[in-house]
Amino acid sequence: MSTLVVVGAQWGDEGKGKVVDAIAADADLVVRYAGGNNAGHTLVVDGRKVVTHLVPSGCLYPHTRCVLAAGMVIDPDVLAAEIAELRAIARLEHDELRVSLHAHVIFPYHRELDGLREDRAAGGAAAIGTTRRGVGPAYEAKAARRGIQIRDLFDEVRLRARIEHNLDAIGPELARDGRAAAFMVDDLLARASGWAGWLKPMVCDASQLCHDAIRRGQRVLFEGAQGAMLDLDHGTYPYVTSSSTTAGGVCTGVGIGPTLVDAVWGISKAYTTRVGAGPFPTRLDDAIGQRLRELGGEFGATTGRARDCGWLDLPALRMAARLSGMTGICITKLDVLAALGMVRVCVAYEDGHDPGRDGLAAARPILQDVAGFDDPEVPGQLARARRWAELPGCARAYLDLIAEAIEVPVALVSVGPGRDETILMCRPFDPPVHAP
Ligand code: IMP
Repeated sequence: MSTLVVVGAQWGDEGKGKVVDAIAADADLVVRYAGGNNAGHTLVVDGRKVVTHLVPSGCLYPHTRCVLAAGMVIDPDVLAAEIAELRAIARLEHDELRVSLHAHVIFPYHRELDGLREDRAAGGAAAIGTTRRGVGPAYEAKAARRGIQIRDLFDEVRLRARIEHNLDAIGPELARDGRAAAFMVDDLLARASGWAGWLKPMVCDASQLCHDAIRRGQRVLFEGAQGAMLDLDHGTYPYVTSSSTTAGGVCTGVGIGPTLVDAVWGISKAYTTRVGAGPFPTRLDDAIGQRLRELGGEFGATTGRARDCGWLDLPALRMAARLSGMTGICITKLDVLAALGMVRVCVAYEDGHDPGRDGLAAARPILQDVAGFDDPEVPGQLARARRWAELPGCARAYLDLIAEAIEVPVALVSVGPGRDETILMCRPFDPPVHAP
């Protein structure tokens, strides 16, 4: 087995950064294939916290090459800042970070539009609660066939025509808020020419690069962004992001066929969080939800917004497992849940409500208690556990319950933010061994 996809199984923020960082030691290539700097992956290495938004979380290993593939939308200013920060702590040369010529560029006017629309919609049903990073407007331009790809940055004549086309299309909307004059073609061209200069040594045909690596038997890790419930097609539409967050996005986002995907690991917290608007059946609007937020530090890595918190939602997780064809499930932040001293879990919805057919907006959760977490010894035992057998009995029972409900074996358990606070049930590029 040489390819593994890692995807979020909830509404994003599941701890993908930590999981990818923990397993990227075994990978030769780590590839991001969707989304942009709406993602925020927090890594803790040697006690030092690093947040990446565009560069794949595997970037901190010197032997691991990183790729930003075609399905992404890239804000070059954000990428430049991130590269500078990463170079200060890790070896990150041009050859170790490659950018697809086909990825789309987030221009300053995309960010502006994203913010203006959210401001206008604030408090109303049209407010999505986006990250305001310009991700939605950039994908919108892509679908409208006026998007600007990285390769366009190297052709000034073509780029000028594309920028003019875009400003014509969005000018009236910007003008409504008096912002049209803020974006002049010559200024944008000058900025783009600066981007082209430093991007040039990094650009590549990411599809070919990944394909060649797989053919050579290299181990390739595809790193998803956001989570299944934010998927443009299958999530809680319209309260979703603008890209494919499920495993299928790898094929279109990278440019490889499905036959080259060997395994898919879904990442889920031991509970659930969500930022932005939209349905969240197990949301806790009470002191327990607040306590979970404090214990888990549930504030957005990208926007700093407080995340809503709630119990783990097994019907939604089961749907996520189906959407991505998961072969393993990774459960993160079990230590946070244990610190709460009580655990409940949603095992079904009332009235036979089916999340795939009926959506999540009207789903009312049926909750079940999970025994044993009130024992004061549990948090300490959990924090020390580095193997399945060392986990307290209640934690193992909870993990078995999850695996049985979604019919996917546990591949990894995270009991703390550090790299070593991880229980791996198998080597990442081997099949999972722990079946319930
Ligand atoms: P956008 O992706 O910025 O357009 O935001 C659309 C929705 O996706 C909003 O509800 C965001 O809060 C959510 N979202 C986007 N990226 C992330 C993420 O990395 N974690 C959690 N939520 C996200």
